[in-house]
Amino acid sequence: MLSCKLNDGNSIPWLGYGTGTALYQKEASNEVKTAIEYGVTHLDTAQVYENEDAIGAGLKASGKPRDSVFITTKFYPVDNGPTPSLRQTLLNSLEAMSTDYVDLFLIHAPYPLNERGELKSTWKEMEDIKKDGLAKSIGVSNYRVQDLKEILDGATVIPAVNQIEYHPYVLDTAEEIYKFCTEKGIRLASYSGLTPVTSAKGGPVDAPLAAAAERLSKETGKQVKPANVLTKWLLQRDFIVITTTSKSSRITEMLSIPDLPELTATEIEAIETEGKKYHKRMWMHHVFGEQR
Ligand SMILES: NC(=O)c1ccc[n+]([C@@H]2O[C@H](COP(=O)([O-])OP(=O)(O)OC[C@H]3O[C@@H](n4cnc5c(N)ncnc54)[C@H](OP(=O)(O)O)[C@@H]3O)[C@@H](O)[C@H]2O)c1
Repeated sequence: MLSCKLNDGNSIPWLGYGTGTALYQKEASNEVKTAIEYGVTHLDTAQVYENEDAIGAGLKASGKPRDSVFITTKFYPVDNGPTPSLRQTLLNSLEAMSTDYVDLFLIHAPYPLNERGELKSTWKEMEDIKKDGLAKSIGVSNYRVQDLKEILDGATVIPAVNQIEYHPYVLDTAEEIYKFCTEKGIRLASYSGLTPVTSAKGGPVDAPLAAAAERLSKETGKQVKPANVLTKWLLQRDFIVITTTSKSSRITEMLSIPDLPELTATEIEAIETEGKKYHKRMWMHHVFGEQR
């Protein structure tokens, strides 16, 4: 699978299969096993999904070795009461996943660390986790520019990744994060990238997505769908793409997206111009001070 370089020299496969959203708090070992069997080499989970054990069980059932997959998990700071030791939560995650390291450990959200003035001290704990080899790379998720600036001040390790909600309907608010991370060498990973064809169907990007899908279908002789165009757009914007599906045929479809012909500058401009006409955020409204 196509891999991308991180700022610490490690590589990350471009497509990650997630056990959140549709699989949130569900037993997911069969889905993980199927994803691996269909060629997925990057698994994305989190402590708050309460199904990290599916990663170890799915990997074991696939018969593949640990180093054949890139595993991401995320630390979830509790928002009432004292945050348990970050290191202890990771040790619990490793035990659940039957592994002794993760490839990438993320802080799931800046909230409520920012409210408690703990952004910097938590990042220091992350740096120690990397130093001790419990995580090969460390990063953040849902961090805004102000959160990133705060941890970069005094950091000895720059976050390798910021995993954020990214699709054409958050361009108005996500663009400054995109620019800042790109400038600082922090690789962006997108989640909920298919929102315009799932929860926000019928919006202004439908037309440019359909037009590009039709052009690519004619050119390749295969049926290219609007969802595939969205994923191609994310790839051309240099994103790692975190998605999920219950259908193995869609895994095969997703894995072939790097081989599709490139979207043209005109197609990209149409998607972005139409996207900016509508705002829809699926997650982390509180972090961005938005109403649901
Ligand atoms: N860091 C965070 O705060 C955060 C937040 C949310 C999510 N995430 C991560 O990102 C992962 C994915 O999130 P997401 O589910 O919101 O991602 P998404 O890629 O926007 O949506 C995935 C959904 O789209 C459907 N889908 C897939 N291919 C499709 C196609 N060709 N046409 C129409 N629908 C299609 C799938 O349903 P089918 O089963 O029908 O294919 C699946 O349920 C999560 O599992 C989690 O790991 C992280």
